[in-house]
Amino acid sequence: MDLGIKGKSAIICASSRGLGKACAYSLAINGVNIILNGRDEDVLEKTKVEIATVAPDIKISAIPCDVSTVEGRAKLLEACPEPDILVNNNGGPPFRDFRQVDREAIIEGVEMNMITPIELVKGVIDGMANRGFGRIVNITSVSVKRPVVGLDLSSGARAGLTAFLSGVARSVADKNVTINNILPGFFDTDRLRQGVNSTAKMTNESENVVADRMASSIPAKRFGAPNEFGETCAFLCSDQAAYITGQNILLDGGLFDSSF
Ligand SMILES: NC(=O)c1ccc[n+]([C@@H]2O[C@H](COP(=O)([O-])OP(=O)(O)OC[C@H]3O[C@@H](n4cnc5c(N)ncnc54)[C@H](OP(=O)(O)O)[C@@H]3O)[C@@H](O)[C@H]2O)c1
Repeated sequence: MDLGIKGKSAIICASSRGLGKACAYSLAINGVNIILNGRDEDVLEKTKVEIATVAPDIKISAIPCDVSTVEGRAKLLEACPEPDILVNNNGGPPFRDFRQVDREAIIEGVEMNMITPIELVKGVIDGMANRGFGRIVNITSVSVKRPVVGLDLSSGARAGLTAFLSGVARSVADKNVTINNILPGFFDTDRLRQGVNSTAKMTNESENVVADRMASSIPAKRFGAPNEFGETCAFLCSDQAAYITGQNILLDGGLFDSSF
């Protein structure tokens, strides 16, 4: 399917690895010029080369910066002041008992997973509305809908983002600007493998045993592949998806158990 976005431009935050990278890849192969981002310059450069190999005709810029900082966000907007597409992504707070989450940690988590994406939305949304096209996709988490003990801060900050942007989405829907969230369950990325590794150390099991147990808890009986995530993101950024806005798209292989 031609997504109708060839020649558009996209800022994809935190996109040198994992789900962000998968979104960048899928947008790139659909002809979108992309701004990649990550803190590790070498990894970022490798990703740029990898994507350039499969999408040689697009423009790719790699901006090494911490998206959680004011300076980092300014650099991204300087590299692409008028993006047609914004994919909000960032690292997430680590697993911790909520009793260990002090005031400073709460502010840091809210900064990462709520304030940062809102600031970027504020930076791009009026231009999108004036130009009559905009697609904003936020990578949140299944934990917005389903508690994950130990990720309470991540869940709370992302739920705050979801609620904040649900009204904003309606305010620009008539300008062909959409805002949607994709909620990953368990996708096979470095972050997921780090979680498997930590659990294996705590329980004194092998990583394979832990990973198999996690995968078997999912009705699909497997982890999601990052490209499945990227393709969904690209579709939400398409011309055809203009009537989908303010939605929370669960990509979890059936993990969240509900009828509605
Ligand atoms: N994978 C899953 O199953 C899953 C499930 C639920 C929620 N999520 C959420 O989805 C998001 C992406 O997860 P993932 O699995 O793709 O993680 P990942 O494999 O660890 O990749 C994270 C990416 O973000 C970049 N990054 C992290 N912090 C950054 C910062 N401050 N500024 C700029 N770039 C930054 C990393 O590059 P550098 O480290 O070089 O900066 C890397 O490119 C996270 O917020 C995670 O909590 C993931």
